Amino acid sequence: MAGNRTFTMIKPDAVKNGHIGAILNDINSAGFKIVAMKYTKLSAEKAGEFYAVHKERPFYGELVEFMSSGPIVAAILEKDNAVADFRTTIGATNPAEAAEGTIRAKYATSIGENAVHGSDSDENAKIEGDFHFAGTETF
Ligand code: CMP
Repeated sequence: MAGNRTFTMIKPDAVKNGHIGAILNDINSAGFKIVAMKYTKLSAEKAGEFYAVHKERPFYGELVEFMSSGPIVAAILEKDNAVADFRTTIGATNPAEAAEGTIRAKYATSIGENAVHGSDSDENAKIEGDFHFAGTETF
């Protein structure tokens, strides 16, 4: 059975470009309820830990540097079929391939600076949500 929660980050590029409000509005309009949220900044160490699964990829260093370059918004979202539906809402990783109207099509500038993160499985949604939030911060 598909889970009902996913994890997202509004990345430093979208925050810097003033898109927090518009992206949260798109998230709500797509039917997601925000059950946890914080405005924060990842240290390089924390960003490296979060993206450890990509450690061997050529873009890992760039990814860690970018994700620790400025504040982000981290959130846990709730909806039936949350992981798959949110990936549809944000569009493809590469904004050049993202469907029209998706968050990445509207706000991302490149594959590296792609405005938002979305978990890729129920298992990772739980791991990623727990990475950022204590149980007492989730409602
Ligand atoms: P995200 O969904 O947060 O998960 C991993 C991230 O790695 C991805 O979004 C992109 O921002 C980044 N990424 C993936 N492929 C590349 C690439 N070829 N070059 C730079 N960054 C990438």
